[in-house]
Amino acid sequence: MPSGPMSDTILAALAEYEPYRELRAGKIAREEFLNRLEASPGGLEQRLGNARHIWFLASRYPADFDRQSDEIFAQLRADGIVAGQPSVAEFEAFRRRLLAIWDHGENRTFIHPDEARVLYFLSMAKKPKRMVAIGCYYGYWAIWAMPGVAAGDGRATLIDPNPAVTALAEKNFKAMGFGERTEVVTAKAETLFAGMDADIDMVLLDANGGRDNPDPNYHGKGIYAFMMEGIYDKMVDGALLVVHNDYRPNIGSNRLAQKFLDNLASKLDRFHAFVDSRFRKGRVTPTPDGLGVYLK
Ligand SMILES: C[S@@+](CC[C@H](N)C(=O)[O-])C[C@H]1O[C@@H](n2cnc3c(N)ncnc32)[C@H](O)[C@@H]1O
Repeated sequence: MPSGPMSDTILAALAEYEPYRELRAGKIAREEFLNRLEASPGGLEQRLGNARHIWFLASRYPADFDRQSDEIFAQLRADGIVAGQPSVAEFEAFRRRLLAIWDHGENRTFIHPDEARVLYFLSMAKKPKRMVAIGCYYGYWAIWAMPGVAAGDGRATLIDPNPAVTALAEKNFKAMGFGERTEVVTAKAETLFAGMDADIDMVLLDANGGRDNPDPNYHGKGIYAFMMEGIYDKMVDGALLVVHNDYRPNIGSNRLAQKFLDNLASKLDRFHAFVDSRFRKGRVTPTPDGLGVYLK
């Protein structure tokens, strides 16, 4: 598999898969697409190999990522989680620049195009003064929020314990012109919470709990509960929490994705119990990897 966005690989494979072409062209409905994907994944199996890529991601890929992100943002506005309508033309100019400059190194990312676009819109609507990205990896998700941080003359803190990815995040943020307003910290986020000021108005959550931690509840996306329990008091009233890989069984699921979803969602039970009782409102949106947005 090449480095860079996994969506490039999945979309290239889907582009040669007749049922997806028909879905894109509006000739068949998603149900028909799923029937055909299930009955005959054809060349997708050879090109994508991994069952998660085929059954989970491909079955949740929309016919049009831009349209899907517009619908998601409109829904979040209707929910009262965000307000305003950021400029699509400005987003497209930013996307062009980012795609020309960004260095993925040897890394692969599962940030899908609608997850990037929704985050850009959220940041432009919120214009955070202080954003914290937990599990920033090499910055490829957080970068989409930086135009909003810059528009609010805000600052960002990116956190990840892996020095190889934080070095690449730092390099890319500088290349994109956000070096001055960004601090990249190589650490486990939970070691930093106590020393943080209580002025955070946007949190991005995408860490993966390491198996070196003796508590199995912390492993994988189970870490989200620990992160929220640690940072919640440092978030101002009205802060936004944006969560990658947020799954709830009935959202964006379909019978093919369901095989994977139940297992993934169960790891988030403690996180969901926390956010449901502490945040004013929230929604899990049906992007391929599930995007949760919560308002404190
Ligand atoms: C693999 S990334 C998420 C990738 C992202 N979903 C994507 O596709 O681009 C998860 C990151 O969480 C980081 N991480 C693990 N434990 C952490 C912790 N305690 N605090 C902050 N980040 C952590 C890992 O080093 C890793 O870079």
